Amino acid sequence: MEFDNVSDAATPHEVIAFAQAIIEGESDRIATLANISALIGQYLPRINWAGFYLFAPGTQEGVLGPFQGQIACTRIALGSGVVGTCAQQGKTIVVPDVDQFPGHIACDKASRSEIVVPIRDNHDVVAVLDVDAPILDRFQAEDQFLLESIAALLSKNWSSMRTF
Ligand code: SME
Repeated sequence: MEFDNVSDAATPHEVIAFAQAIIEGESDRIATLANISALIGQYLPRINWAGFYLFAPGTQEGVLGPFQGQIACTRIALGSGVVGTCAQQGKTIVVPDVDQFPGHIACDKASRSEIVVPIRDNHDVVAVLDVDAPILDRFQAEDQFLLESIAALLSKNWSSMRTF
């Protein structure tokens, strides 16, 4: 599935401002992550999946969080795939061609390129933001800036968001 409800009217800075309003306007973590995944799905053209994997403190695996797109792998081990590698290394990974990333986990067979951005609570990686595209080399510096800005807002507010 490729999203077709894309708004091309917003600039990256407007999307970041919208993300800030979502994050600062609601203290429930699941509701916030759900709307952030919807925001990315609505704004970013030519993507087929956008969502979160959550890493509880001390855990060895990430668990699927709110997302937009096809049904995905529920759990990904730390160090596995792009998601687990990002969580382990604590830095953004841009994959121009998923077939060239050793150990890439194909949840949606349509995915051709991917970006995964870590979210931190203090020093610990507590989640990653994962976005897939059905075309090669989809994610450029502007996309990385947008997604890292949103991840920074989530990191800053992570500990003050409720989980129930
Ligand atoms: N491709 C990811 C798995 C998650 S799906 O893309 C939603 C990976 O290699 O970790």
